[in-house]
Amino acid sequence: MPRCDHTAAWAQLRSYYEQKAQHFDARDALRTDSQRVAKLSQAAPHVFADLSKNHIDDSSQALLMQLARECGLQAQRDAMFNGAPINLTEKRAVQHTLLRQKQAPDQWNVAGEAIDNVANHAKWDEVRSVRAAMLAYAQQVREDRQITDVVNIGIGGSDLGPQMAVLALQEFATTGKRFHFVSNVDGHELAHTLKDLKPESTLFLIASKTFTTIETMTNARSAKAWFLAQGGTDTARHFAALTTNVTAAKDFGISTTFGFWDWVGGRYSLWSAIGLPIAIAIGAQGFEQMLSGAADMDAHFASAPLEQNLPVRLGLLDVWYRNFHGYGSRCVAPYHAALRRLPAYLQQLEMESNGKRVDKDGAALGYATSPVVWGEPGTNGQHAFFQMLHQGTEVIPLEFIAVKTPSHSLTPHHALLLANALAQAQALLQGQSDAGGHKHFPGNRPSSFFVLERLTPESFGALIALYEHRVFVSGAVWGINSFDQFGVELGKVLAKDIEARLASGDAQGLDASTAALLARLR
Ligand code: F6P
Repeated sequence: MPRCDHTAAWAQLRSYYEQKAQHFDARDALRTDSQRVAKLSQAAPHVFADLSKNHIDDSSQALLMQLARECGLQAQRDAMFNGAPINLTEKRAVQHTLLRQKQAPDQWNVAGEAIDNVANHAKWDEVRSVRAAMLAYAQQVREDRQITDVVNIGIGGSDLGPQMAVLALQEFATTGKRFHFVSNVDGHELAHTLKDLKPESTLFLIASKTFTTIETMTNARSAKAWFLAQGGTDTARHFAALTTNVTAAKDFGISTTFGFWDWVGGRYSLWSAIGLPIAIAIGAQGFEQMLSGAADMDAHFASAPLEQNLPVRLGLLDVWYRNFHGYGSRCVAPYHAALRRLPAYLQQLEMESNGKRVDKDGAALGYATSPVVWGEPGTNGQHAFFQMLHQGTEVIPLEFIAVKTPSHSLTPHHALLLANALAQAQALLQGQSDAGGHKHFPGNRPSSFFVLERLTPESFGALIALYEHRVFVSGAVWGINSFDQFGVELGKVLAKDIEARLASGDAQGLDASTAALLARLR
């Protein structure tokens, strides 16, 4: 497969950008092409997207599709679904989609031959049996009135996904239980959480793919020490582990364990046993609906033609903006308060996956990869950083996520919320050219607008799967490994060394800045 920058489409996109696209004005395009909205609207399962305010036209769309084809996007996608070891550096398959497939592997509707149906079948059987056990346990916890507080201890993918989902789906959550998420090694977080808890009514879930992560292990040890010090006795009832390293969990003294597998990446793990807090919150049926919504999006990604494939269109738009327009960041504004942890979740999903500087062979790239992804729910963001989006010197594509029907009856609030989402997208587009100086808005600022009918487990599952696949698409075009994360390792190693130096005061061999800060912090 040629690298993206060696394809014909890449060169054509470059010259199309220089000659024409850099002067593109979405206002004119919307005015002159009566079909534009229809052409740039894309319905996908549970999620509708209007992309018409973006800086794309028929020619750039066609060239981007050509780029995807030249980079072998479909083959790469099928390899993922089929369980090929596409995480080459770690020699692992990438099969979070298997966690939510509705049918057995040999019935998948994925183009191409399943690579190893026997292996996929064995995985599928294991997935189903762990899920059944996990959901039965979740049901038991839901019915256990003595347990009022569930504390998830985990970080990164073992925190962000379940935390975001429990918040997003709070409307569907059982009453009578509070959910806490402790991730940071900063003791303030655990101490603050434990302050109001009692051992007899608390269930700790120790969530760690590897069961070695220093933050999680430190918090888990302190939680256990607290539990025992407060007179807790039945650790089997009050601690459960969600991990691929069941042996380490048992060594830690946890007998209730739910496993998963190395072919589920940490940031793709909310569909696995890591989703236990979600299952406790919304029940087995809700959890299965979430999986089902994601599976619907998987089927769309696997089978819709590239031109009508929402994750493909979004991933290619990301490439277009990053590599040709040079936009360095993308802002996500969910106009639904319950989606307030979505931007944080997306930061790991996108930046840990695609924040890479070498291609699959380890050769340095001559082009940019992951943008900075950031955001806040609307309308809050409007009163904070939207100023910069409207009038700053940089163009930052924005993504609105609106939910048509709310889950409350405060109708005027919702009308105002939706009006604001629409108005912001409109203001970014149209600008204000009749005013000069400080009141001038340049306009023509690109945005995408996603619509969910309602925020349900199903639509939430589909939305997250959409983002997963979009990140896959841009990573596949860039020719990088979106599934490792070696960039987090160096800091971990150095922290160990510095922890010892903080105790001893030994600054030998440190750079002058670190040595001075070490002295100050001792
Ligand atoms: O340090 C990064 C990372 O490995 C993430 O990829 C992962 O989600 C997180 O740490 C937590 O890892 P674990 O689930 O193994 O504790």
